Amino acid sequence: MFPQEAAKRDAARMTQGHAVYRQYCADCHGDRDPVTGSWVNGPQTGVVVPVSTLKTDPERVMFRHYDVLAGAMFTVFPSKHPFHFAREDIWPQPGEENDLSIRGYVNAPLDGMFLRAPYLHNGSVLTLAELINLKKRRDVFYRGDNTYDPVDVGFRSPDAPDARNYFKFDAAVRGNSNKGHDYPWAYEDLRRNPDDLAALLEYLKTL
Ligand code: HEC
Repeated sequence: MFPQEAAKRDAARMTQGHAVYRQYCADCHGDRDPVTGSWVNGPQTGVVVPVSTLKTDPERVMFRHYDVLAGAMFTVFPSKHPFHFAREDIWPQPGEENDLSIRGYVNAPLDGMFLRAPYLHNGSVLTLAELINLKKRRDVFYRGDNTYDPVDVGFRSPDAPDARNYFKFDAAVRGNSNKGHDYPWAYEDLRRNPDDLAALLEYLKTL
């Protein structure tokens, strides 16, 4: 995709990054098989992680009517409609609609991650470097420019934003929190190892 970036790749760095990924990420997200090139789910892929564990923004699964949405979706769309999913694939599951403690977000495969910025379900993190806490997450940024950043992987926020051309994203607004998902380490964690994180970022670029 980005030949200049790919040319800089170094095999030892990639091995280091892959080891970090296997240790801290692959259980939940799965990994790409280096031989076949296809995605292999991990033991926890497809599982919903409660918001209380993940600590990303809760509004997406706590809003009023969330409890009735899955059932309504299942009954409203006729069986041949593309939005008619199997009932077990739509959360919350029958009988679990009112259990707030299990509401959360699903562990999904990360293939093609470089194409999927901004990150998290609410798009609150602009780059992968920030998502893995290699860099501090920006609390305010501007969308609308969409210049791609192949180094940090994601979008750049313009240096000279103006209200007319850009949308201001403020993580302090309800529903916009950029907190949580502090894997492998939170930014403030004393165990945080920037060298391992830089190697991890290089590996993520290949997914
Ligand atoms: C306990 C399971 C778990 C672990 C461990 C975990 N993640 Fe995640 N990850 C999730 C969940 C759940 C989400 C969705 C969170 C959301 O959208 O609020 C997510 C979201 C992501 C996203 C954003 C996906 C998108 O489409 O926006 C990326 C990238 C990611 N994780 C990378 C990683 C990396 C790299 C690691 C290892 C350092 C890791 N994750 C460890 C569960 C996990």
